[in-house]
Amino acid sequence: MTPVDVRAYEDADEEAIVALWDARFVEPRPWNQPRELIRRKVGVARDLFLVATLDRRIVGAVIAGWDGHRGWLYHLAVAPDVRRRGIGSRLVRAAEALLQARGCPKVNLQILASNREVVRFYERLGFQVEERASMGKRLAVTPATRHAPSRRPACRATAPS
Ligand SMILES: CC(C)(COP(=O)(O)OP(=O)(O)OC[C@H]1O[C@@H](n2cnc3c(N)ncnc32)[C@H](O)[C@@H]1OP(=O)(O)O)[C@@H](O)C(=O)NCCC(=O)NCCS
Repeated sequence: MTPVDVRAYEDADEEAIVALWDARFVEPRPWNQPRELIRRKVGVARDLFLVATLDRRIVGAVIAGWDGHRGWLYHLAVAPDVRRRGIGSRLVRAAEALLQARGCPKVNLQILASNREVVRFYERLGFQVEERASMGKRLAVTPATRHAPSRRPACRATAPS
């Protein structure tokens, strides 16, 4: 099999990533629109947005976040026809390596507790389910703040440590 390549997101990847996420993640809400999400991430930390390619086709993606205290993983997805070939694991390990290189001591992520298959996937990679109350609060995003430069601090209100 052609080897899978894991690399940083490039602008030309946008359509393929949108297609990959569309079926699985999109909710009809502005903060979860894939194009908006991609542009926000690229504006803040492009190098923490990873894609997996197979024969130059985008077959997976994951977003990592680093706030100086904890690392986070978001929106991991692998195309249905190439699952169970280790691509999701490659993406998570590559994201972990990037976070570790920045001095990140712990990676957190949130998934629906009912998504037992993905819990098993992450357990295989050494993650553990931690009993926490997951909290969040929506913040109004105005046109002036939507693509703010990275020197502005990111805000996050959440429970896991
Ligand atoms: C979760 C996901 C990214 C896994 O990607 P993948 O490339 O298939 O994962 P891997 O091939 O690296 O799997 C590694 C191991 O994890 C476990 N695993 C993966 N998918 C699993 C499943 N559906 N059920 C049970 N165990 C699973 C297996 O132990 C697997 O090893 P094996 O194939 O040798 O048994 C993929 O199923 C996906 O995109 N799901 C939809 C999106 C999603 O729910 N994302 C996570 C929430 S943000």
